[in-house]
Amino acid sequence: MKNYITLDEWCIVENGFHAEHNEITESLMSLGNGRMGGRGNFEETYSGKTLQGNYVAGVWFPDKTRVGWWKNGYPNYFAKVINACNWTGINIEIEGEIVDLNTAKIHNFTRSLDMRTGVLERNCTIELVSGKMLKIHSIRFLSLIDDESGLVKYSITPLNFFGSAIVTVSLDGDVSNKDSNHGEIFWNEISKETGHGVGFLTLETKKSVWDTVPTFKVSTGMKFDVYQAGEKVECQTFPIKKEKYIANLFNINLVEGEEISIVKFAVNLSSENHSINDLSENTKNYLEKVANKGFDTMLTEQKAAWAKKWEGNDIQIEGDLAAQQAIRFNIFQLQQTYTGEDARLNIGPKGFTGEKYGGVTYWDTEAYCLPFYLSTSEQKVARNLLIYRHNHLQKAIENAEKLGFSGGAALYPMVTMNGEECHNEWEITFEEIHRNGAIAYAIFDYIRYTGDAQYLEEYGLEVLTGISRFWAQRVNWSEEKNKYVILGVTGPNEYENNVNNNWYTNYLAKWCLSYTIKCFEDLKNTNQHKFQEIVGKTHLNYSSETEKWQHIIDNMYFPYDEQRQIILQQDGFLDKELLNVNDIANHRPINQKWSWDRILRSCFIKQADILQGMYFFEEDFSLEELRRNFDFYEPMTVHESSLSPCVHVIHAARLDKKDKAYEMYVRTARLDLDNYNNDTEDGLHITSMAGTWLSVVKGFGGMRVINDKLSFEPFLPEQWQGFSFRTGFRGNSLNISIKGKTIEIKNISGDEITVLVYGKEVMVAAKSYTSVTY
Ligand code: BGC
Repeated sequence: MKNYITLDEWCIVENGFHAEHNEITESLMSLGNGRMGGRGNFEETYSGKTLQGNYVAGVWFPDKTRVGWWKNGYPNYFAKVINACNWTGINIEIEGEIVDLNTAKIHNFTRSLDMRTGVLERNCTIELVSGKMLKIHSIRFLSLIDDESGLVKYSITPLNFFGSAIVTVSLDGDVSNKDSNHGEIFWNEISKETGHGVGFLTLETKKSVWDTVPTFKVSTGMKFDVYQAGEKVECQTFPIKKEKYIANLFNINLVEGEEISIVKFAVNLSSENHSINDLSENTKNYLEKVANKGFDTMLTEQKAAWAKKWEGNDIQIEGDLAAQQAIRFNIFQLQQTYTGEDARLNIGPKGFTGEKYGGVTYWDTEAYCLPFYLSTSEQKVARNLLIYRHNHLQKAIENAEKLGFSGGAALYPMVTMNGEECHNEWEITFEEIHRNGAIAYAIFDYIRYTGDAQYLEEYGLEVLTGISRFWAQRVNWSEEKNKYVILGVTGPNEYENNVNNNWYTNYLAKWCLSYTIKCFEDLKNTNQHKFQEIVGKTHLNYSSETEKWQHIIDNMYFPYDEQRQIILQQDGFLDKELLNVNDIANHRPINQKWSWDRILRSCFIKQADILQGMYFFEEDFSLEELRRNFDFYEPMTVHESSLSPCVHVIHAARLDKKDKAYEMYVRTARLDLDNYNNDTEDGLHITSMAGTWLSVVKGFGGMRVINDKLSFEPFLPEQWQGFSFRTGFRGNSLNISIKGKTIEIKNISGDEITVLVYGKEVMVAAKSYTSVTY
């Protein structure tokens, strides 16, 4: 754990340069606007530890699979959102000395990310080896409004000398991915062009041998102006062109105490959003448009756009600054990663903050992220996340066919970019099939929240049919048990592989089949025509297929221990030596200290598994059942997935385990800020950030949807004096605030609304508020 980030309500501040943690800080200070993003790297040369990273949403490369032992069915490649052109570069050389914070003496330094505005700012005073003192001030942001653009204002002030500087303003596409499987460079240069104060560089991803994989072109443009003591100055610029690199260089006289500023506009347009023929011209026009708006206007717009975002999703925590900073950080990063404008995009576990997990889509989106966007954004944002999977349905059917399934059965990939499977560890690729269930559950969750049942008719039922067909083929009848079983799977707890009858997977499969039947039956009763249309489109033999589904529903096997009255994670779980995590305090994290063999044989659980199922389907279980299972499984859980603590907060809050809930909350909320897992340098845990939101809103706020109404069963952690959050719900915008034993529900916009507080109906008139003491 590293506590070098200053506590602040709205800012992430590094006071004093911590070179040893630079890669961590670069992750924490990442910027994004849904369309592009990048790490908080310095603009100028830095020869110390750094991970350079700029990413363009939806632009990826199929990195050839690397495995020791090839298994039939493995995907050929791992899709990666790749490191793209570095558009931020501004290098300074002063009389032969390159400005580099790794070699200069640093007198004072602050790097700060303002979450209110999405602006990254740096202020420092440095001393070069020659004794020259220099002040550097930089401001950078990625525009939310013109989301294909980024801006930098980079200023230097000589403090104790007169002299001259060579400034190089660049676009550098000569970049690589640290995690490239075969050390390959992913880009080819297509064209480059420089003019006075402008430059353009177009790169294209290399053509792969797989014809299903497209290539992407990205055209990056830059334009800059120079100011001295606040006045625009004309400098003679010299072009520099190298392989995948262009720059403009200029000399400028430095006057002691006088600030020089370079205001740089950059744009990144990709062939995902522009036709290849127009790409170059569109880049020029777009650049012109943002440069004409000017830095100050763009900054004003940026502030307003972020203020609007915060209006709908801020969470305030009184009396706990660390928790306050953390929750805002989590919300901010989620908003930077996905804006929901484009159904082709999704949420990579690291967003735009690093390379690990390749920026691809996991079950994390449906299981963890969806509720956040449902509650804090316009309905279309969550809807687009669902449509993304509908768009991939055909590929999911093909994916299942590759594994031997047929008849329209769909197996969604464990990780994907374009719908094709990209994961290549057999125990996950082939066995972690519960991801299919999370996709079905997300449809249910979306409809429960929004009431948008029409989604089913348009898209949802086709997806549910494909998934149900998969489950119907994946189960098998056990003569011995006289039940359906699901063999050879990996549940959410990846510290068990190839197990039989993982309860969570069996439960999801059964639920999914009955939910699909229910949806079809409802539609049959309300809209025969549409029902027939979907049955026709999916070639569903309705009576015989659903008859089989019903038989599975009625006869699914679930492992259970009668003596302890607990659900069993899988067959044979009780054969293990049942230990407590406290027994292995010096062995943690076990994924770094133990062999895989030892992990697999142990009882230790990576992340919520039974408890994940009890979270999804909590209304199916009594509080006592939950308590028995929580008390049995939680002490064996090592939480070595960042997705684990949040589920435990939600259960612990319901079970009135206040200390446990708070302990788990801190762990999820400050996971990256305090580098709990020692891996923040690789990038942030974006999808687990949604878990932090879940912890506050569903955990401490006890927010649920019950019979089409929002319901609250709040619980205030002792460490807090109060907390409040915003949520949208079916046309209403509400502010929920909890203090002591009182909840105040403010109806900010929308008609009168009735909510439930601990089961009691409470009416809140339009533009009014109601307080309830519970
Ligand atoms: C977790 C998975 C998760 C993945 C990406 C893994 O460590 O076990 O459940 O999907 O990380 O976040």
